[in-house]
Amino acid sequence: MHNKSEIYNALRQIKDPELERDIVELGFIPEIEIDGTRIIIHFCPDIFNCPFINWFKSEIVKEVNKINVFESVEVMIDHSSENKPLDKGALPFGGIEHLNQVKKVVAIMSGKGGVGKSFIAGMLAVALRRANYDVGILDADITGPSIPKMFFSRRPLLTPTPRAILPALSQNGIKVMSVNLLLQHDDEAVIWRGPLIGRAIKQFWTDTLWGNMDFLIIDLPPGTSDAPLTVMQSLPMSGVLLVSSPQDLAGMVVRKAASMMKHIEIPILGLVENMSYFTAPDTGVNYDVFGPSHAETTAEALDIPVVARLPINANIAMLCDQGKVEDCIMPEFEAVKELIEKITPPCSLPKMPG
Ligand SMILES: Nc1ncnc2c1ncn2[C@@H]1O[C@H](COP(=O)(O)OP(=O)(O)OP(=O)(O)O)[C@@H](O)[C@H]1O
Ligand SMILES: [Mg+2]
Repeated sequence: MHNKSEIYNALRQIKDPELERDIVELGFIPEIEIDGTRIIIHFCPDIFNCPFINWFKSEIVKEVNKINVFESVEVMIDHSSENKPLDKGALPFGGIEHLNQVKKVVAIMSGKGGVGKSFIAGMLAVALRRANYDVGILDADITGPSIPKMFFSRRPLLTPTPRAILPALSQNGIKVMSVNLLLQHDDEAVIWRGPLIGRAIKQFWTDTLWGNMDFLIIDLPPGTSDAPLTVMQSLPMSGVLLVSSPQDLAGMVVRKAASMMKHIEIPILGLVENMSYFTAPDTGVNYDVFGPSHAETTAEALDIPVVARLPINANIAMLCDQGKVEDCIMPEFEAVKELIEKITPPCSLPKMPG
C-alpha cells in the first residue's frame, strides 16, 4: 500500500522545463486519488494550452511507476487553467505571480540610512530559515543594493528562464533577489528614477518565481522619502518593522514613519533599536556608544512594542561583510524572530495595487 506523500515525492522529480521548479512546488498537482493499485493524478498546469502537456503526462506515469508498477496510473488534466487564457497562445515572460503563494510579507524600514536595516533584514531571514520556514529576501534598495554581499562571498549572476526570473538560493536555501544579481558588474550604478524603480520592484514580484513561502522579507531603501513609499505601494505587505539607532532624532523618525504608515495603511509591527550598546568583552559592562537609548519613548509615541535592543558586535559585522550572514549568531535577535513568527493573520495578502 502506498501513500500520497510517497507519490508526491516521486512527482517532485519532474521539473517544469521553463520554470525550472518541480511540479509539486508549483502547485500543479492539486489532488491524488488512490484506489488500491489504481491511481489518479490530477494535473493542473498554470497556463491554458500548455505546450508540454504530453511530456508532463508521460513523465508523471514514468515517475509514479518507478515506485511500483500500479495497475493503472491515470493523469487527469484539470482545466481550471482555462480561465487564464494567454494572448494568441504565446507564452509571455513573467505574469507568474499566481504561482507565488507567500503567507507573510514583512518590510524593514528606518528613519535614516546606515542604522542596520539590511543587517536586520538579513538576520531575520536567517533566523526564520533556521526555524525551518521557507523564506525569501527581496533587496528593494535598487540604488544601494547590499543584500547579496551578506549572503554570497561570490556573487551569483541570475539568468532569467524563458518565463521567469529565479531567485538565487543561499547556502541554507533562502531565496535571494536583488537588482545587483542582474547586473553584469557588481559595481555598476543603477541611476533609475522613481517610476522605473517602482516598475522594477513590481517585476521583482510579478516576474520572479518565489513559489510557496512562509515569509518574504523586504529590505527597503533608507529613509521615509519617495523610494521606500514606492516600494511599499508596489507590493502586498503584512507589516513593517522599524529600525532605529540611538543616534536618531527620535521625534522626527516617529512623526515621519507614523504619518507614512497611516497614509498607506500598513501596520508597524515594532521597533528594533540597533547598535544600541557595546558590551566590553573583558568586563561585561555595557556602554552606550552612540548615546542613550530613545527606543522606549519612540515606541511609546507610536504605540508599538520595542522588540529588541541589539548590541554592536564587530565580529558579526565582519561575517556579514564576508557573505556569511548565515553563520551569525546573536541571541538578542531571537525576540525579533518570535515577533514576526507570531504576526497574524497568516494573511491572505491584499491585492496588488494596479
Ligand atoms: N549590530 C551591529 N553590530 C555591528 N555592526 C553592525 C550592526 N548592525 C549593522 N552593522 C554594520 O553596519 C553597517 C551598516 O549596516 P546596514 O548596511 O545594515 O545599514 P542600512 O540601514 O541598511 O544602510 P543603508 O541605509 O545604506 O541601506 C554594515 O557594515 C553592517 O554590517
Ligand atoms: Mg541597506
